[in-house]
Amino acid sequence: MYKGNTAGGGGPESNMDLYTVVLAGMILALLWMVRVKSRKNNLPPGPPALPLIGNLHQIDRYAPFSSFLEFSKTYGPVMTLHLGWQRTVVIAGYDAVKDAFINQADDFMGRGPLPILVKANTIYALANSNGERWHQLRRFTITTLKDFGMGRKGMEEWIQEESQHMRAYIHSLKGKPFDPTFLMSCVVANIVCCLVFCERFDYDNQQFLGLLNVLVNVLKFGCSPYGQLYNIFPTLLEYLPGRQHAVFAQIHKVRKFIGDKIQDHKDSLDPNSPRDYIDSFLIQMEKEKNNPKSEFLLDRLVGTVSNLFLAGTETTSSTLRHALLVLIKYPDIQEKMQQEIDAVIGKRTPGMQDRKSLPFSDAVVHEIQRSLDIVPFAVPHCALRDITFRGYSIPKVRPRLFQNRIDFRRFLMNCLFVCQGTKIIPLLHSVLRDEKQWVDPWSFNPNNFLDHNGNFKKNPAFMPFSAGRRACAGESLARMELFIFITSLLQDFTFSYSEGPAHIDLTPEFASFGKLPHRYNITATAR
Ligand code: HEM
Ligand SMILES: *[C@@H]1O[C@H](CO)[C@@H](O)[C@H](O)[C@H]1NC(C)=O
Repeated sequence: MYKGNTAGGGGPESNMDLYTVVLAGMILALLWMVRVKSRKNNLPPGPPALPLIGNLHQIDRYAPFSSFLEFSKTYGPVMTLHLGWQRTVVIAGYDAVKDAFINQADDFMGRGPLPILVKANTIYALANSNGERWHQLRRFTITTLKDFGMGRKGMEEWIQEESQHMRAYIHSLKGKPFDPTFLMSCVVANIVCCLVFCERFDYDNQQFLGLLNVLVNVLKFGCSPYGQLYNIFPTLLEYLPGRQHAVFAQIHKVRKFIGDKIQDHKDSLDPNSPRDYIDSFLIQMEKEKNNPKSEFLLDRLVGTVSNLFLAGTETTSSTLRHALLVLIKYPDIQEKMQQEIDAVIGKRTPGMQDRKSLPFSDAVVHEIQRSLDIVPFAVPHCALRDITFRGYSIPKVRPRLFQNRIDFRRFLMNCLFVCQGTKIIPLLHSVLRDEKQWVDPWSFNPNNFLDHNGNFKKNPAFMPFSAGRRACAGESLARMELFIFITSLLQDFTFSYSEGPAHIDLTPEFASFGKLPHRYNITATAR
């Protein structure tokens, strides 16, 4: 039932020849000129843009966030850039991000159309919808996450149990060097599986590994410069050959897997005792079955569950991999954490109640997230109504970008003709490096989160999960995972790299939409 919607990729249209592409280019140039002429003004200032490519030629493909930060030194904290013909308002620095996303939260809560997410999801679900649908799905998801965080077998217990499996696996390697990438993905994906399916998978389950591979490929593509280009010129790339087609061709496997699980859940549902996210959703569906406006429909369940996998897996597992690299690069920090953990917890599995007694470890975990800065410009937002911010106006996006069902071809045409309205980007990178907010913004330094007495010190500019109404829906789950996994790993192991700490490069391998750490074969020595 989900086919058909995404059929743009493989059809005969993709064999367009050069002539057609050039023609399309000329038409686009024309459209651009018409659009520039009709543009309302009073937008925030920004660098002059060229037709078609906008400011792309001035942006570093491998570190676009650095270019944005550089621009903000000239044009200020609220500026307009053109990514291709996509007009984009970028908000930089802690003060402006807070003013917009927290103090004017209702204005800035819209989700901008993100072609990769639309293409991968085929449906407007939690992460890419707006209005009543988003509101309902978001509230339901946050409540359900909380419910499974207390009572019954809560999320914390699932995480602790998974940490046992993870450590047992590493012990079985007996100190042989290994690449932790896949293990970390399994561990973290299992937590999402526990939440939605009430089930974890062994690290050698082929079906599970196959699905993870699809997710990794989508994310890797999304994080590459080419993937960014797809977001900027979806209509063009959709009709050109290239690896974008292979990446998306696999995503139906994830949906099929989720669909099958939902069917199993339906067959064994006990309405009085929901086991997991899917059960809770099915119960809500049943409650609202006579409400023609209900947002609780089967395709949205599939879409939202795949959102949870996409949003909750690679983000957390890349952060864990970055954590291992940081610990190897700074052996004294690793040792100091181990001492603190040994003294406070001993051999028992760590839990969230231990966090306040482990100020140094807590600071290091925060600093790991701050220094990685994994999604440097979050996920694009947009104005759902005309916004006035700091004296500028940001025009609203055309509502027809958000129809009920995604007709991908129509979506692409809209991207062409209405230029997707104006996107809004919170430049989280600039907040996590804001020189007015941090003691030592540009290095790895746990003192960014410690006071003079070694107590943990909060900082409101800690925004790796973004801020405001759209901030990460899985924040508390992710923070639980990071704290428990990192501390429990250090209870059992000391991590090192055969060529020595100096050879660890903490700058990301891929950095565009998201940052992916370099891969190393590391050694875990049992303590
Ligand atoms: C270290 C781990 C994670 C980081 C750094 C992270 C960060 C983010 C960021 C920056 C956003 C976009 C916020 C915005 O639009 O302004 C986001 C959205 C989201 N995240 Fe996370 N996330 C993490 C883990 C998770 C986990 C574990 C889950 C759930 C299982 C999750 C679920 C979501 C969802 C559903 C959204 C979309 C929310 C919406 O559109 O309303 N994330 N995340
Ligand atoms: C890690 O080791 C494996 C097997 O020895 C090897 O195939 C792989 O290329 C290595 N990876 C890295 C990043 O060095």
